[in-house]
This record gives sequence, C-alpha cells and structure tokens, in this order.
Amino acid sequence: MNNIIIYGSHYGTTEQYAKELSRRTNIQAVSFEKVKGINDYDNIIYFGGLYAGGVLGMSKTLKKVNDISSKKIIIVTVGLSDPTDKTNISNIRNNIKNQISKEILKKAKIFHLRGGIDYSKLRFVHKTMLKLLYNAVKNLPEEKQTAEDRAMIETYNKKVNFIDFSSLDKIINEI
Ligand SMILES: Cc1cc2nc3c(=O)[nH]c(=O)nc-3n(C[C@H](O)[C@H](O)[C@H](O)COP(=O)(O)O)c2cc1C
Repeated sequence: MNNIIIYGSHYGTTEQYAKELSRRTNIQAVSFEKVKGINDYDNIIYFGGLYAGGVLGMSKTLKKVNDISSKKIIIVTVGLSDPTDKTNISNIRNNIKNQISKEILKKAKIFHLRGGIDYSKLRFVHKTMLKLLYNAVKNLPEEKQTAEDRAMIETYNKKVNFIDFSSLDKIINEI
C-alpha cells in the first residue's frame, strides 16, 4: 500500500501533528503546496488547519484525485475550538460538505484535533480577521456563543497550545 500524509498549515500546529503521525507510522508527510502525483497513492491522510471554517488546502488537494473508488481518505481538522463539542463537530462537518465532492465526503473518515495559537506571530490579515470576529461575539450572551466563539474569546490575544499527540491514537487505529 502506498500511503501519504498531506498537511495544510500556516503556523505549524497542524504540521506538528502531521509530522508526529509520520514519525509513528513511517508514512511520509508533505505540505499540500509541495505534493506531487497524488493519484499514485492508495491512502491519503489529509491534515488541515481550520481557517474561518475552511480546512486549509483540502479542497485544492482533493480535487486532484481522479478516481476515489479504490482509495481510503482520512481527513483531520486542527482548530482552536473544542473538538469534543457536538455542535462544534457538526459545524465543522457542515463546512467540510461545501469543500469536497459528495463521493469523497461519503468515503472519508473525519477526525478533529485541537491546535494552538500565538497572537504575537499572526500575520496582519489574520489578526485583523480575528479582531473583527472577536468584536462581533464578545458581548453575546453565553447561551448564544458557539464553541468556536468561546474558544476565540478565551484565547484572544494570547499564546495557547492544546496540542495533544495522544489524540493521534484513534487515527493510527483507523490507518
Ligand atoms: C484567521 C483565523 C481563523 C481561524 N478560524 C478558525 C475556525 O473557524 N475554527 C477553529 O476551530 N479555529 C480557527 N482558527 C484557529 C486555528 O485553526 C488554529 O490556530 C490552528 O491550530 C492553526 O493551525 P496551523 O498552526 O497549522 O496553521 C483560526 C485562526 C485564525 C488565525
């Protein structure tokens, strides 16, 4: 079996998960910007950081897969919001629906992991996006805040790291 781990990461947390999985499984890990010959692989494990609901690089990468029928696809999202919160999982999955084909969606096994953020390292455009979002949700009553809103409010302007490599175990089982 020919396997590959592909990742989309702006600030490295998703890359850390992908590389740790690579170390544990001996499957090579490559950034989505550098991957070549995606159709040569039987199993594709895609890790993408969550950016405003989008899974970084996923759509662009999986569009290149010609015939999904004999392949196994695993999608792993890495975000700040609580990946055990049911509503959050449902929101992430609803967003994923709009980013990949129905065939891939039907076949893919999807996992959610928690990353981290360091505001001092953010690009201006990302800082500005989060500032706008923060201002829009910070005064909402708690019952109206989503897990994503809460994660953003709690971590706003901070440096936090929720990386937990033990959460890769369930993905290794799936592989
Ligand atoms: C502009 C921006 C938008 C984000 N949107 C989301 C989001 O929609 N949901 C979420 O859970 N986390 C969101 N995050 C947090 C990132 O997903 C989190 O920091 C992740 O660990 C980043 O992965 P990376 O370090 O591999 O780039 C966002 C972060 C930034 C900077």
